[in-house]
Amino acid sequence: MKDITTYEDVLDLITRFYEKLLLDEQIGHFFQELNLNTHIPRVADFWAFILIDQPGYTGNMMDAHARLALKDADFDQWLLLFHHTIDDHFYGEKAALAKDRSTLIAWTMKSKIS
Ligand code: HEM
Repeated sequence: MKDITTYEDVLDLITRFYEKLLLDEQIGHFFQELNLNTHIPRVADFWAFILIDQPGYTGNMMDAHARLALKDADFDQWLLLFHHTIDDHFYGEKAALAKDRSTLIAWTMKSKIS
């Protein structure tokens, strides 16, 4: 298995992650109305900045979630699916970083939002 090293890898990871999210019984409903053609590249840009130092993400991630009624259990499910998607397709330093960072960010979001 390979590590996450290019923008294509990041886009691949996020696309596969959203395939899982959209079908999820617990949190899938949050994503049904989004325009995925614009949303997925925005999320990929966010992760490309964290994982491969590629600038491009200009949004405010916290604001994007503030209006959603997110519970602690929703964050736990989001993280579980994200980590499973990473483990299914990638292995290495950046794959581990993606898991660490997502855990930290989810924890921060939980304490601010839910
Ligand atoms: C309970 C868990 C979560 C749910 C249900 C959720 C759902 C959503 C939804 C519906 C949006 C679109 C908001 C909009 O465009 O109005 C969004 C945006 C986004 N989410 Fe999440 N999210 C969750 C957790 C996370 C976590 C933990 C991260 C990062 C570690 C994250 C990263 C992002 C990013 C980068 C965007 C794009 C924001 C933008 O458009 O600038 N999300 N999320």
